[in-house]
Formats: sequence, structure tokens, C-alpha cells
Amino acid sequence: MIKRAVYPGSFDPVTLGHIDIIERSAEIVDELVIGVLPNKGKNPLFSVQERVKMLQTVTRDLPNVTVESFDGLLVDFLRVKDAEFVIRGLRAITDFEYELQMAQTNKIMAPNTDTIFLATGLEYAYLSSTTVKEVASYGGDISKFVPDFVAEAVYTKYR
Ligand code: PNS
Repeated sequence: MIKRAVYPGSFDPVTLGHIDIIERSAEIVDELVIGVLPNKGKNPLFSVQERVKMLQTVTRDLPNVTVESFDGLLVDFLRVKDAEFVIRGLRAITDFEYELQMAQTNKIMAPNTDTIFLATGLEYAYLSSTTVKEVASYGGDISKFVPDFVAEAVYTKYR
């Protein structure tokens, strides 16, 4: 049976930490769907279309990875995609409570699914899209946090 997973998130913007999780999970499952949530409430820097496009660019050499946006419940998107697994990265203990709560809620709503947590690489443990935006908004260097073309796109937004 094909093992299909969804890696959901806002990806506003995609960071090197996300890319690390994408590459590693693409080795574990047969097919990986990156599910981009519009997250209107969070007042995103990039439109959902821009975020999907950036993710398609960074995953163009990974043949078993596709990128789509979704709105609504993750468990509904899993059903539509016929996916059994959710991938999430865990950076630090501070992520744990929220992630466990999400995983357990999703498990109740969709008992035939499971969440797979990948420990974020130590070099990305500190990294988040929010801090990337914060640093860039003050003109700081984000070249160690995101791919070059993403950094350009972020600076353009703040220019
Ligand atoms: O990258 P993020 O913003 O931390 O990702 C959060 C995400 C998208 C995984 C989460 O908000 C989510 O799954 N949203 C979809 C709505 C949903 O299913 N909510 C119930 C989960 S308990």
C-alpha cells in the first residue's frame, strides 16, 4: 500500500528548517503532499499562491512531493488526498504541547490517521518563519535562514 503523507503549515515563508523536514519525510513516505494553509487570521506576508509557488520551486527536484493549498480542517484534507499520515517538525519543548494537542485532536477526528514527528535538525532548532520576517523587517540578514530567492522575495515585501 502506498504511504501518503501531508505536511501542513503556513510556510510564510518556507525556511531551511521546513526544507530539511520536507527532504527527510520524502525519504520516509512514498508520496508527500505539502498542504499550505491560507491562515488569514495570522495576516500573512505572502499570499497563499506565492507560498505554494515558493514551495514548488524548492521541491522541484523531489519527484514524490507535490504542493497544494487547503482551507478548513486538516483531517478533511487528509481524506481528500487519501493520506494516512501527517508530518510535523518538532523544534523544542515549547512546540510540544501545541503539537501534541493537534495530533491528539486529529487522531480523535480521524482515527485511521497518525502524526509523524520529525525532530528538527539542531542547526534549525531556533528557526521560525516569524523570526525570519522580524529580522528582515529591520533590514537584517536572513541568508542563513531561507533560500536566496525567498530572501529576495521577503526583502521585496518590506521595501
Ligand atoms: O505552520 P503552522 O502555522 O504552525 O501550521 C499549523 C497547522 C496548519 C498545522 C494547523 O493550524 C492546522 O492543521 N490547521 C488546519 C485546521 C485544523 O485542522 N485545525 C484543527 C487541528 S487541532
